[in-house]
Amino acid sequence: MLYLRIPPEANVILKVPFSCTVIALAALLATSCAWSQANPPEPMHHHHGPMPTPANLQILPKDTTPEQLMTVMHQFEGELGVHCSFCHEADPQTHHMDFASDAKPEKTTARIMMQMTASLNAKYLSQLPDHGTTEKVTCGTCHRGQSMPAVYTPAPEEHEHPPMPAGK
Ligand code: HEC
Ligand code: HEC
Repeated sequence: MLYLRIPPEANVILKVPFSCTVIALAALLATSCAWSQANPPEPMHHHHGPMPTPANLQILPKDTTPEQLMTVMHQFEGELGVHCSFCHEADPQTHHMDFASDAKPEKTTARIMMQMTASLNAKYLSQLPDHGTTEKVTCGTCHRGQSMPAVYTPAPEEHEHPPMPAGK
């Protein structure tokens, strides 16, 4: 199996917020669970057999259950407007999805994005004086249903500029 590793210098940067990362991701999972309980139960994996225990989690807590993992994966799909195969590769021989494989660069990018998003919430937004009134940053905050966030171009201004204050 090919492991694409984050370069060591990135690890140094990521080391500090790692505990925050885990806490923030645990919070994400907790929110997801609260969400799924508030909604009518829905068969999660009708087409598949029992979900195997994840074997190659590097960002999410190792004890993430298959059900919690699928909630996160379905969020990724919706927030990026993609399907599983955007990040996950099929085994070239069996043509079955090999979810534990790290062959696709999009999966590696998604891991970095998970750490970035967790840091934004735990390390930066938590410093705001009015923190708690703001929504948490999620993948969808930037991605808005697109795999590559669109460059934002402000619409041309519709109203007249107020007159410039006269210089003193
Ligand atoms: C935006 C990218 C992305 C999408 C889309 C995505 N995944 Fe994932 N998936 C990941 C990443 C990243 C991990 C590894 C997380 C970690 O290291 O903690 C992962 C891990 C997994 C694992 C655990 C594999 C193991 O054994 O470690 C399974 C199973 C999985 N995904 C299934 C799915 C399914 C099913 C879908 C579609 C419904 C899906 N994923 C969509 C990025 C994605
Ligand atoms: C703060 C804004 C922001 C957030 C939050 C964010 N992303 Fe991204 N994402 C970006 C930007 C910007 C790029 C393009 C980066 C580049 O290629 O230089 C990107 C690129 C990606 C790509 C590569 C897309 C491609 O076509 O190769 C993936 C996969 C991805 N993000 C997944 C995620 C996931 C999963 C999350 C949530 C855990 C997330 N992102 C959260 C801004 C964000």
